[in-house]
Amino acid sequence: MTDDRRLARASYEIMEQLLEVDRLEEALAGSLEIIVRTLGCEAGVIWYLDPKTGRLSPIFHIGPSDISNISIENGIGVEGVVTSSGKSALLADAASDSRFEGTVFDEGGFTAKSMICVPLNNLHDVIGCVQLINKKDGGAFSEEELRICERMAALAAIVIEEKGLSVDHGGEKEIMISLRGVTREFPSGDSVVQVLKGINLDIYRNEFLVVLGESGCGKSTMVNIIGGMDSLTDGQLLIDGKDFSHPTSRELTDFRRAYLGFVFQSYNLMPNLTAQENVQFIADLAEDPMSAEEAIAMVGLTDRADNFPAALSGGQQQRVAIARAIVKRPQIIFADEPTAALDYQTSIEVLSVFERIIKDRGTTVVMITHNPEIAKMANRVVKIKNGRVGSIRTNLHPLRAEELVW
Ligand SMILES: Nc1ncnc2c1ncn2[C@@H]1O[C@H](COP(=O)(O)OP(=O)(O)O)[C@@H](O)[C@H]1O
Ligand SMILES: [Mg+2]
Repeated sequence: MTDDRRLARASYEIMEQLLEVDRLEEALAGSLEIIVRTLGCEAGVIWYLDPKTGRLSPIFHIGPSDISNISIENGIGVEGVVTSSGKSALLADAASDSRFEGTVFDEGGFTAKSMICVPLNNLHDVIGCVQLINKKDGGAFSEEELRICERMAALAAIVIEEKGLSVDHGGEKEIMISLRGVTREFPSGDSVVQVLKGINLDIYRNEFLVVLGESGCGKSTMVNIIGGMDSLTDGQLLIDGKDFSHPTSRELTDFRRAYLGFVFQSYNLMPNLTAQENVQFIADLAEDPMSAEEAIAMVGLTDRADNFPAALSGGQQQRVAIARAIVKRPQIIFADEPTAALDYQTSIEVLSVFERIIKDRGTTVVMITHNPEIAKMANRVVKIKNGRVGSIRTNLHPLRAEELVW
């Protein structure tokens, strides 16, 4: 395909995305994905300018570092200058362009050179900008490529105008867990395979983070490392600011006992104990548990508390598994494909339980799933691609479990 055809095709796909998808954040994210793919970029960001605070924050970004927590003042840096002036920028060497004071990517250890940044204008105001960074072939962006970005921004503005865009940031985000350049290698014959290739990710307190990605991309490995069930090869893991990259077995035991809960696709209940006894068993090992009755009540199984697992449906058994995870009052729960074995209705019941504990108990939940519909419930969605963070999306208006359809 010639360049013109390629770009025309991308414009058309973007138009389809923006006009046909009913959820704005997905339409914007999908459009950015098309542009990043078509132009062959290393990274791309959609920045939103909050009119209340006058600051820009990323609502969707594609690229290897987690910049979700960065916010910049309107008028500062390339991004801020574009939103404050309402004028596009096409830069050959962003970091040393004398018209701007650098770019946020300098902070993430990612060198931005070639860059496009175009404002997102609705009818009245600039509401953010779209930014593309570095061509993978090392070349510079062209005027033609700038124009396709401007076209996307114009289309996006129409859709945003129609659907309305407001971001509820819910106050300051507090970082709970940080991964910096985390790698994991496994021996394979005479050599090694690198399964995680430098993961950079922050997890915030009380967020619902969904992890998506193709089978085998490293999701479970990543979550198992954070949960102390596997160890990293290189890089750094910080828990509440404390280095936890190579914990002692004592630290690990304390961390597991007091801090986290795990829920898996298989329920792993003990068959000869009742629902409540399964939960009680874990409560007895914990430091400051709630009562088993309370945990059972939280998952809505009070009337089935005395049943053995074999007498419960799959969804009920999974709810017992969740009760077992929450009885310790963990700060964070990792759920690896918790609904993979369940039908639609039962999945919604189980997801509602997670929804409730996030809201009522302030628990942080990190959930791995194959189901993109579940991602609509999340505060943020991270896509893992071949052992790295591929993209991170912030949902402006997460859906409730009962609103999901598949
Ligand atoms: N203990 C292990 N030894 C060797 N290879 C492993 C081990 N654990 C996982 N892997 C490999 O790492 C890759 C990622 O696995 P995993 O994290 O389970 O992927 P996902 O959860 O995204 O499907 C797979 O290719 C898998 O075979
Ligand atoms: Mg897995």
